[in-house]
Amino acid sequence: MKVNGTPYRSIWYDHDTAEVRIIDQRWLPHDFRIATLKSRADFATAIYEMWVRGAPLIGVTAAYGMAEDMARDPSDANLDATWEALNATRPTAINLRWALDRCRAHLAPLAPADRAEAAMQLAHDMAEEDVDINRRIGQHGLALIRDIASRKPAGEPVRLLTHCNAGWLATVDWGTATSPMFQAADAGLNIHVWVDETRPRNQGALTAWELNSHGVSHAYVTDNAGGHLMQHGMVDMVITGTDRTTAQGDVCNKIGTYLKALAAQDNNVPFYVALPSPTIDWTLRDGVAEIPIEERNPREVSHVQGIGTDGAITEVQVTPQGSEVGNPAFDVTPARLVTGLITERGTSPATAEGLAAMFPEHASKVA
Ligand code: MRU
Repeated sequence: MKVNGTPYRSIWYDHDTAEVRIIDQRWLPHDFRIATLKSRADFATAIYEMWVRGAPLIGVTAAYGMAEDMARDPSDANLDATWEALNATRPTAINLRWALDRCRAHLAPLAPADRAEAAMQLAHDMAEEDVDINRRIGQHGLALIRDIASRKPAGEPVRLLTHCNAGWLATVDWGTATSPMFQAADAGLNIHVWVDETRPRNQGALTAWELNSHGVSHAYVTDNAGGHLMQHGMVDMVITGTDRTTAQGDVCNKIGTYLKALAAQDNNVPFYVALPSPTIDWTLRDGVAEIPIEERNPREVSHVQGIGTDGAITEVQVTPQGSEVGNPAFDVTPARLVTGLITERGTSPATAEGLAAMFPEHASKVA
C-alpha cells in the first residue's frame, strides 16, 4: 500500500544492498522509520519487541531471518538453532511456527552449500504468497460488504468495526481484515470503519494510519465503545484478524476480540474473521484450552507511548506506583460466536466441516 504516495510493503529485500528491511512499527503512527535486519538476533528482537507484528508478517520475517542466518552458517546444527531461536520469540501466532517448519522441511534435505540461496528464494516466495492470499481474502470480504451495501438505504455507509491491526502492516501487503475495506473503498462503496483503540499497544492507531493513508472514512474509538455502537445499530459487520484458528473454528486474536464477538451476538451483528490458511492450526480442536496465550511485559499496560506537545515521541505512566499489572495479549473467541471465516478460497462457516471442505488437503491432519 502507499505511504505519502510511495508504494511500500511491511518487509522487503533490498536487492541493491542485499539487505532485509522493515517498517519499524514501534514509531507509527507518529514517525515513519525503516530498519535493516542483519543478524539472527536482529530478527528475533524485531519479532519479540514488535518492530514487526501481526501473525502473517511475523511468519515471513522469520523466513527472512532463517535465510540470513543460513548465509552465515548453513549447517544442520544452525538450521535447528535458528528454528529454536526464532520460534521462541512469540508463542501465540501459529504463522511463526508454520513458516519455520516450512523453511526447515525445505532446507534440511539440501546440501548445506545450497541452503542460503534456497532459503532466500523461499522467503521471497512466502512473501509473495502472503500478498496473494490477502488480496483474495479482500475479494471474498468485498462480496460480503457489497451484499450489506445492497440492503442499506441510499447514501448510508456500511459501518464496519475492527479490532487491533489486521492491516497491511500486519501482513506483507493488503492486510487480512483491512483488505476487504481497501477493496470496497477502491470499488467506490460507501464504508465507514470503527477502529478499536486496542490497548495496551494501541494497534488501532496503526489501522487508523493505514485507513487515513488510503482515504477510507473511519473513527478511532475506545475499546469499550463497541457494545454501545452495536446496541444503537451503528455497526453492520465486524471483521477482525486472527493469530491462530483451530480446525473447528475457534479464533484466537488480540485481547478484547472475544468481548466484541459477545456484543455482536447479543445485537445480531455479523462477526467475521479474515483467515489466511497458514493461520489455521489443524492440530487443535479446543481453542480456549489449547492455544498458548502470550503474557507480555506489564510495562506495556502501565505505560503508554504518544507524541508530546513538543513533537517528541514520549512515554507516560498511567498506573499508580506499586499496582500489580497483567498483560494477556490474546483471547479466544469460540466458533459459535463467529458468523464466518473469510479465507483466500472463500467464506467458510466456523466449523470443522466447513474448514475441512474449504481445505480438503488438510482434513486428514485434524485430530
Ligand atoms: O500482538 P500483535 O500486534 O502481533 O497482534 C496482532 C493481531 O492480533 C492481529 O489481529 C492478527 O495477528 C492478525 S494480523 C493479519
